[in-house]
Amino acid sequence: MNTPKHIAIIMDGNGRWAKKRFLPRIKGHQKGVQAVRNIVKHCGKLGVKTLTLFAFSSENKNRSNEEVSLLFKLFLSVLKQEVKKLNKHNVRLKIIGELSLFPKEVQKTAIEAQALLSKNTGLTLIIAANYGGQWDIAQAAQKIASLSAEGKINAEDINVDTFSKYLSLADEHRVDLLIRTSGELRISNFLLWDIAYSELYFTDTLWPDFNSIELDKAINSFTDRDRRFGARKDKAC
Ligand code: IPE
Ligand code: IPE
Ligand code: MG
Repeated sequence: MNTPKHIAIIMDGNGRWAKKRFLPRIKGHQKGVQAVRNIVKHCGKLGVKTLTLFAFSSENKNRSNEEVSLLFKLFLSVLKQEVKKLNKHNVRLKIIGELSLFPKEVQKTAIEAQALLSKNTGLTLIIAANYGGQWDIAQAAQKIASLSAEGKINAEDINVDTFSKYLSLADEHRVDLLIRTSGELRISNFLLWDIAYSELYFTDTLWPDFNSIELDKAINSFTDRDRRFGARKDKAC
């Protein structure tokens, strides 16, 4: 099977999963964490190199204070709980996004967890938290502008390759497959630059119900795609 090396997922539908069961939204988020565990495990088994998960968008801070603070708490407890298990499974962890918005304890735990897992050589798990694709491009431009002001980079040397070195996913394999759960057909400011040639897969399944069978379906769909990257295999016109 032609397994994608890098899978990115917009994990959507936790709230609707809870609503269907007359439960508070946080119960959907908690159930969503179990789905993350299952998918991380399955990706490890399949030999996927990198899994990038959209956990909290730049825009999600506009939700109620109650939901945002419960999400921060959940993120903190999951980070603390899972780090040993991730280490045992040789998982490298990276967190991308504007972490400065997060409570200090979350920031500290995130830094420590990444440091502990940084040398691992198995699956690279990337969590996008307070992340926006537009923010990512803007922060890259800002870094380049500073280097240019210091005379360390010339305007004529800025191109697609050099620009991408300043993005959050620099050094990672290109995103092969982007999955969005819950039936929404949009990107919601997730990776923008990085999905230029990703294959897209949308499913109505709500994130808490997304499991290894659902992931296999997405991968099978990916395997059937003809990725041309703008070129043609046959030379005839
Ligand atoms: C995705 O589920 C998780 C986050 C955005 C944090 P939602 O909370 O967006 O669930 P729905 O879309 O309301 O069902
Ligand atoms: C996108 O889902 C963000 C995450 C899954 C973390 P949203 O539920 O926030 O997106 P919209 O509001 O439907 O576009
Ligand atoms: Mg949603």
